[in-house]
Amino acid sequence: MLVTGGAGFIGSALIRYLIKETNNTVINVDKLTYAGHLENLEPIENSDHYHFEQVDICEYEAMKEIFRSYKPDAIMHLAAESHVDRSIDGSVEFIRTNIVGTHNLLEVAKEYYLGLADQKKKQFRFLHVSTDEVYGELGEVGFFKETTPYDPRSPYSASKASSDHLVRAWYHTYDLPVLITNCSNNYGPYQFPEKLIPVVILKALQGKDIPVYGSGENVRDWLYVDDHARALYKVLEEGAVGETYNIGGHNEKQNIEVVETICSILDNVQPQDDDKLYKEQITFVTDRPGHDWRYAIDASKIEEKLGWKPEETFDSGIKKTVQWYLSNIDWCQAVTENNYGLERLGAGG
Ligand code: DAU
Repeated sequence: MLVTGGAGFIGSALIRYLIKETNNTVINVDKLTYAGHLENLEPIENSDHYHFEQVDICEYEAMKEIFRSYKPDAIMHLAAESHVDRSIDGSVEFIRTNIVGTHNLLEVAKEYYLGLADQKKKQFRFLHVSTDEVYGELGEVGFFKETTPYDPRSPYSASKASSDHLVRAWYHTYDLPVLITNCSNNYGPYQFPEKLIPVVILKALQGKDIPVYGSGENVRDWLYVDDHARALYKVLEEGAVGETYNIGGHNEKQNIEVVETICSILDNVQPQDDDKLYKEQITFVTDRPGHDWRYAIDASKIEEKLGWKPEETFDSGIKKTVQWYLSNIDWCQAVTENNYGLERLGAGG
């Protein structure tokens, strides 16, 4: 099994799951950008079933060689630039990795697939991991379904939407056996500290302002990353070729609710010396340009067709996550060293 982007947040959770819970051999192909860290794979790095190749998915010959030498039964494609705020500051890497990189991978996979014997062809799958942001934003009501029309609104989501379209085109045009998943906001251990939840935890612990964009009333649907990893494997193993599956956690929360929950967990587990409450650090800041109002996933298709359901409640998942960051401050320092100091990104202007 070939996994791209396996040193990132979701990719590493997937590889830890595959190595611990299945008999698959995993080849992790990762360029190791600012968000990819081999530390995320320490729990499984000594497994005989794990291999690592530092390669950029945009490199045609190098990717071809990886397919030639490892002969994978499947590819799970997670390599992507993923941070909306960074895409606002500069879109080049998003176009390059998410669109050009996915196109390159599709071409290499197609050539490899066409050369397989019939039995191997039947087994081969190309699973493309995408986001609910391709559907745009919701108002106060409604849910994203697999049939919701695409309406991406940030450079990031537009690049992911493009990659989804390419993957579907390779299915219809070349019969490449693809599957697509679109997930909601992930959270959990090893998330690079640029996304809301780790930013809030770290800013709170550093005694700094906790930045809440706009009114704080935007809604996200939170999915624990290990639930996502399980869902991805389920789709790979049991999903119908050519189909799309939405994956969500049934945890719609306003951002301010998430931030206040983290503050109160910290008040309990790491109270401040002067009995100050962490929520006193909450600061409302200029909104993200084009900030999508609400995301909410209808995950009934994957539940009904494949029997997958999230196991983690937000309550239990967020407590575990806060605890993980408290116990892994060294990891936070190591992965952000020389590349990110928790500064505001994507404010526009
Ligand atoms: O919905 C799936 C998407 O979720 C993924 O495709 C993206 O890769 C992932 O980054 C995430 O996108 P968001 O933009 O929703 O995530 P982020 O953590 O950046 O922001 C979550 C919400 O919190 C959003 O409404 C913006 C707000 N926010 C974010 C940060 C970093 C703040 O209020 N303050 C912050 O400092």
